[in-house]
Amino acid sequence: MSLSISLFGLGYVGSVSAACFAHMGHRVIGVDVSPAKVEMLSSGRSPIIEASMSELVAEGHASGKLEATTDAARAVRESDISFVCVGTPSLRSGKLDLSHIEKVAGEIGEALRGKGKHHTVVLRSTVLPGTTESVLIPILEKASGLRHGVNFTVCYNPEFMREGSAVSDFLKPPYTILGAIDRQHLAPLHELYKEVASPVFETSIPVAEMVKYVSNVYHAVKVGFANEIGTLCKHLGVDSQAVTEIFISDRKLNISPAYLSPGFAFGGSCLPKDLRAITHRAKELDLTLPLLESLTPSNAEHVNRAVEAVLRTNRRKIAVLGLSFKAGTDDLRESPQVQLIKRLLGEGCQVKVWDKDVSLGRLAGSNRQYIEEVIPHIGSLLSADLEEVVRSGEVVIVGTKAADKSQLATCLTPTQIVIDLVNLDRSRRAEHDACEGICW
Ligand SMILES: NC(=O)c1ccc[n+]([C@@H]2O[C@H](COP(=O)([O-])OP(=O)(O)OC[C@H]3O[C@@H](n4cnc5c(N)ncnc54)[C@H](O)[C@@H]3O)[C@@H](O)[C@H]2O)c1
Repeated sequence: MSLSISLFGLGYVGSVSAACFAHMGHRVIGVDVSPAKVEMLSSGRSPIIEASMSELVAEGHASGKLEATTDAARAVRESDISFVCVGTPSLRSGKLDLSHIEKVAGEIGEALRGKGKHHTVVLRSTVLPGTTESVLIPILEKASGLRHGVNFTVCYNPEFMREGSAVSDFLKPPYTILGAIDRQHLAPLHELYKEVASPVFETSIPVAEMVKYVSNVYHAVKVGFANEIGTLCKHLGVDSQAVTEIFISDRKLNISPAYLSPGFAFGGSCLPKDLRAITHRAKELDLTLPLLESLTPSNAEHVNRAVEAVLRTNRRKIAVLGLSFKAGTDDLRESPQVQLIKRLLGEGCQVKVWDKDVSLGRLAGSNRQYIEEVIPHIGSLLSADLEEVVRSGEVVIVGTKAADKSQLATCLTPTQIVIDLVNLDRSRRAEHDACEGICW
């Protein structure tokens, strides 16, 4: 089924989307405030320099599927769906400038006032979570005098194309993300994307808005990381290309979902120590590597958030489940759980600790010595009895994935507050009303 689409903003995202939708057989009316861009598209020339765009725009012009106008009202009247692809630049402060979105929303709203037919508005520009529902929808309702969900619907559909390969990315994106308040609002978008062979995620509008930012921020982290590692390699006289080739071949831990779930701070005998060694070496080489140097303070800040979350409860009897840095080990070196307990004791809290793998009776060798010599005051708080520890706390901190849901359920009472630091899988969380995390 061919749809009629109006598309606001004929910059990189808008003109590529316009040309590709026309190529897929839909009728597209591009709208821009720039008469020069409108004139170019109207005469079959691409307003941007981008691979395959000249051919696609010429093809759309020849078939009569692709046209452009500065007349927003006509474009809305003559289409079923309006895509909003206008710019969202930074203000001097870094704050997002929504003025173009607000202006287009007003124009589309006014045009809808007299249309008398259901319309779908799809925001494609990058906006912070909450913007579609708190800015776009209210402006559309006010300008049109109509109700969202009744006379028109709004969806959020972020764009993942990269300039330079925008057309092929548009036709084969990593995924298609469709955000809506009600899944039924997505029907026209399913129709539109049915020939695009990529996974489709239906989700809420704020999640769709956030995924776009998370993707771009992560890409920036990857570039910054690669460049800092490359710089370090060069100054150490190590072949960075050879390092990278081997590093990225690990799809189990390196290029994988591992370590990407929000949870508690990192610790243990390797990560903190190795980060210190590498950033210290960088300093000796007179190198400034802000990303690598930021990781230890970032981790410490995460422990601070856990301490703050406990203190905010205004309760001082604390049960901590988990002492080692992760489940399945008794290694206590640089465990963030140990740091958390030390901080809570310093704040005057009464703490009891349970850990399946760390029980003084079972411990041998270096870990027993570590407890006895480095943290003897924590050793005396340890118990192997989960029920006794849970019952002792007004606040129960889940600091290990080893805590058993059904066992917890038998001893938790409704008055207790549960703070889950490790972000247990939903199916494994204790069913408890007052259960929250610090980053989920
Ligand atoms: N460039 C990319 O690769 C890319 C990729 C994904 C998402 N995005 C996001 O998509 C959005 C658009 O990015 P872009 O690079 O295409 O921007 P752009 O600046 O190239 O184009 C925006 C266009 O909107 C037009 N415009 C402004 N006000 C208008 C109005 N009232 N009516 C009609 N047109 C109007 C401008 O004249 C301009 O042609 C941004 O939010 C951006 O963050 C960009």
